[in-house]
Amino acid sequence: MRLANKVAIITGGGSGIGKASAHLFAREGAKVAVAERTVSTGEETVSTIRSRGSEAIFVRTDVTIASEVENLMEVVLANFGRIDILFNNAGIIKIAPIDEIDELMWDQIFAVNVKSIFLTTKYAIPAMKRARKGVIINNASTGAMRPRMFFSAYAASKGAVITLTKALALELAPFDIRVNCVVPGFTETPMIDVLDEKQKKAVADTIPLRRRAARPEDTAYAALYLASDEASALTGASILVDGGRCI
Ligand SMILES: NC(=O)c1ccc[n+]([C@@H]2O[C@H](COP(=O)([O-])OP(=O)(O)OC[C@H]3O[C@@H](n4cnc5c(N)ncnc54)[C@H](O)[C@@H]3O)[C@@H](O)[C@H]2O)c1
Repeated sequence: MRLANKVAIITGGGSGIGKASAHLFAREGAKVAVAERTVSTGEETVSTIRSRGSEAIFVRTDVTIASEVENLMEVVLANFGRIDILFNNAGIIKIAPIDEIDELMWDQIFAVNVKSIFLTTKYAIPAMKRARKGVIINNASTGAMRPRMFFSAYAASKGAVITLTKALALELAPFDIRVNCVVPGFTETPMIDVLDEKQKKAVADTIPLRRRAARPEDTAYAALYLASDEASALTGASILVDGGRCI
């Protein structure tokens, strides 16, 4: 097993890529903490993992609120004693012309997609620094390098995720804490339900490999690699999981 006895926190673990990663990491031997703002989906991920004989806890967390993120780390340390892997996966999207984006919408996108990574990292690294080891994985998007029409706020936030990943990789390297990101393209999760079927087909047609959306598991496997010791020489890296869209 590639994550035997590791403790992994996965934000947004109730749905899509986060849920697929929670199941995969648990299958690979990790004890998983699902940090999710939606209680029903977070609990469902955890109960399925437990029913398969692995260890998991649900910690209801809004990753934009500092006190809730601080609580998340305390609960994980109280239950599992360590934090080996932090997968900053939670994210939201809003698609709108720039003059229809209001200030609240802009701030919400940046709070969930970027500020959350600052908060989780800030509160997780004391334990990782004590252990002088750790792995942080951030979920970016091909929107960062190939924005689609009306993606300005989302694309800018994901560009920030990639830059933040590099800055943190540099800063935390002396503690043997690796910081990398996965960069999914169009992926079949509830997030893409902001598009109707015709729009989904048009987007899928832009993907060279099989002209279809990726599965959430495709990015989960990339995250698994980054989380594992097999990636011990990688930091500051971005792994595209986009079916060739950014070629
Ligand atoms: N689906 C895609 O096409 C795609 C493409 C590129 C990148 N991504 C990125 O992948 C990540 C996961 O997205 P997904 O496609 O699985 O979407 P999803 O909507 O299925 O899952 C996102 C999860 O994040 C949770 N979440 C949102 N705000 C939160 C908050 N404030 N606190 C805690 N949890 C919160 C949601 O409840 C949900 O469970 C996101 O960062 C997204 O931007 C997705």
